[in-house]
This record gives sequence, structure tokens and C-alpha cells, in this order.
Amino acid sequence: MDQLYEAAKKVLPNAYAGYSKLHVAAALKLKNGDIITGVNVENASFGLTNCAERTALFSAYTQGYRKEDIEAIVVTTNKDDIISPCGACRQVMGELMEPEAKVHLISANGKRQTLDNKELLPFAFQKEDL
Ligand code: THU
Repeated sequence: MDQLYEAAKKVLPNAYAGYSKLHVAAALKLKNGDIITGVNVENASFGLTNCAERTALFSAYTQGYRKEDIEAIVVTTNKDDIISPCGACRQVMGELMEPEAKVHLISANGKRQTLDNKELLPFAFQKEDL
């Protein structure tokens, strides 16, 4: 997990977050040992912003990985309090990661909280509902 945290911290300066100034980085640990990172990318049209978690997940899927390949995600920021994934990210994480995948939330000063992905969005809308 420390290796994952280091990978997230390494890309944190790449966050494109001039509007909110909240820099967020995510790092996915794959079962094959690979790590895939993402940062938040903001836009002057604020609603078009992409969160770090979704950037990392979409990148993993672009590379051909699927939910069964993903073991854990670390989410870290430039703030001293941990942040919890937003609702949009929870919805995406619910579909693109396994229920048992670990979600590690780590603040800039090292506070940590770990949850199972399935704890983030109970009673979610799912593809089975279509
Ligand atoms: N943000 C993330 O990257 N992940 C989250 O789970 C919460 C919010 C970003 C989006 C936006 O760039 C900034 O944080 C402020 O909302």
C-alpha cells in the first residue's frame, strides 16, 4: 500500500486544479502488480471536471484491464484531511471495481482510512437494473 501511496503522491503535482486548488491523485493496484495513476482535471466549464479516481479507472480500462484485475485504490490530496470519493466516482467505482476491492483514503499528513468499495454506495443503480 505504501508503494501505491508513493505512486499517487508522485503524480499529485500533475493535477490540473487551478479553480478549486484541491489537488487529488489516485493510484490503482492491479493484481499483476502494475500501478495505474490518475489526477483530477478541471475545466472552466466546471461540470466537465474529471475526478482523479475516474481518470485512473478510465485509464486502466483503456489499457484493457477490467474490474477483476483491480485490487485496491489509493486516493490522496494536498490537504491535511482525508477526502472521500464524490457520488459520481462512487457510482463508477461500483461498476468498474469489485465490491471487495480496497479503497484507501490518505491525507497529505498521512491520516488513513480504509473501506471496502461496496461500503461507498449502498443500494446503487446497477447494470442489472437496465
Ligand atoms: N475531486 C476528485 O478528484 N475526487 C473526488 O472524489 C472528489 C473531488 C476533485 C474534483 C475537483 O477537481 C476538485 O476535487 C474539487 O471538487
